[in-house]
Amino acid sequence: MNVISKKIEKLYGEIELPGDKSISHRSLLFGSISEGFTTIYNFLKSEDTLATFDCLKKLGVEIWEENGKIVVKGCEYKESENILDCKNSGTTIRLLSGILSAKPFYSVLTGDNSLIKRPMDRIIKPIEMMGGEIYGRCENKYPPLTIIGKKLKGINFKMEVASAQVKSCIIFATLFAEGETIIEEPYETRDHTERILKYFEGYIEKEKNKIIVKGKQKLKGKEIFIPGDFSSASYFISASSIVPNSSIIIKNVGLNPTRTGFLKIIERMGGNFEILNQKEISGEPVGDIKVYYCEKLKGTEIFPEEVPNIIDEIPLIAVLGSIAEGKTIVKGARELRVKESDRIKAITTELKKLGAKIEEKKDGFIIDGVKKLKGAKVNSWNDHRIAMSLVIASFIAEGETIIENAECVNISFPEFFEKFESLGVKFAFLT
Ligand code: S3P
Repeated sequence: MNVISKKIEKLYGEIELPGDKSISHRSLLFGSISEGFTTIYNFLKSEDTLATFDCLKKLGVEIWEENGKIVVKGCEYKESENILDCKNSGTTIRLLSGILSAKPFYSVLTGDNSLIKRPMDRIIKPIEMMGGEIYGRCENKYPPLTIIGKKLKGINFKMEVASAQVKSCIIFATLFAEGETIIEEPYETRDHTERILKYFEGYIEKEKNKIIVKGKQKLKGKEIFIPGDFSSASYFISASSIVPNSSIIIKNVGLNPTRTGFLKIIERMGGNFEILNQKEISGEPVGDIKVYYCEKLKGTEIFPEEVPNIIDEIPLIAVLGSIAEGKTIVKGARELRVKESDRIKAITTELKKLGAKIEEKKDGFIIDGVKKLKGAKVNSWNDHRIAMSLVIASFIAEGETIIENAECVNISFPEFFEKFESLGVKFAFLT
């Protein structure tokens, strides 16, 4: 599907967004390994989270929808008769591998053309250290992964890359292991796994950058309310910041401090927003975000230690930097090269087509802000975050922009276009 999007006059109104993707995956996984029933409110139904849903069903987990809620019955998994297709979802393959490494049967996990090129050695290494048996393609680097479940033991593990998916894989494996695990992170990453684990009455501790998890834990199924996805909200925050006359409210957004680094960046760039009605729901901070147009954003520098906290928002920061005054520099973001696409290459290539002055670097990019972008034909690289970031750029580009292969928004945010339409934006969809 190609989408035609135009420069817009303003964004105005109030919206509520679908549930957080990371928390949706984790709610299903935790529900499946906990005692009793877990009821999930505001679950995100997207291609990624449905991949986790389908894999769990193949493993014999009972999950169903009831009056708009998802119910999961905790159980012992059964060996799947067929491969587990994780589709485009890194979270599904990495987190589920942690659980399956401890289950006494054989599993094969694979995914689409993007997922089979994403690095898995980062989880294979710690699982092997725990006594697990797991193999991957190209000398244990890539999916498909084969797992022969084993009895695991806790480890001390210093992570080389800051990755919540790797951390969570090890935490899940430890829940079935003997002894305890200590994980050291180079920089703090999103802590949803730790929070849900506590919410499900499990035990986990944090001391500076060390996380201590006990083995052989029994968890209790719960009712869990998932807040609106902050990463999805960031497209609306960006759009309202750069489209003249805009003022919007985004209700009930997740405000977990390990996710909201993007707000600090917007603040540094001179953006205008307010946080209202802060509260805690199911162990996660939640609130409303009110955003107003900012006449002149300023360029900023992003440092390596900030990267994990804004990892999914960096393509959007490139869009904002493209029309901000002065330079925007992103460093230490090499991880972007091994996401759903090589996001450094994808965003620099596509923004150049819109007239941005952006230079690709090994671990980021440097942008010289320009006064105007101009409409052009751009491509999503089949990466949802690139597609959505380009739509935001189109709102301020002169004339018309065509975003090719835009259907990939369904990976994380199937209602993306609809939500913008509810704020007055018009798109044309070419199938
Ligand atoms: C995620 C963690 C991040 C993020 C991804 C979701 C998660 O990946 O980019 O979209 O749910 O744990 P890494 O932890 O690999 O950086």
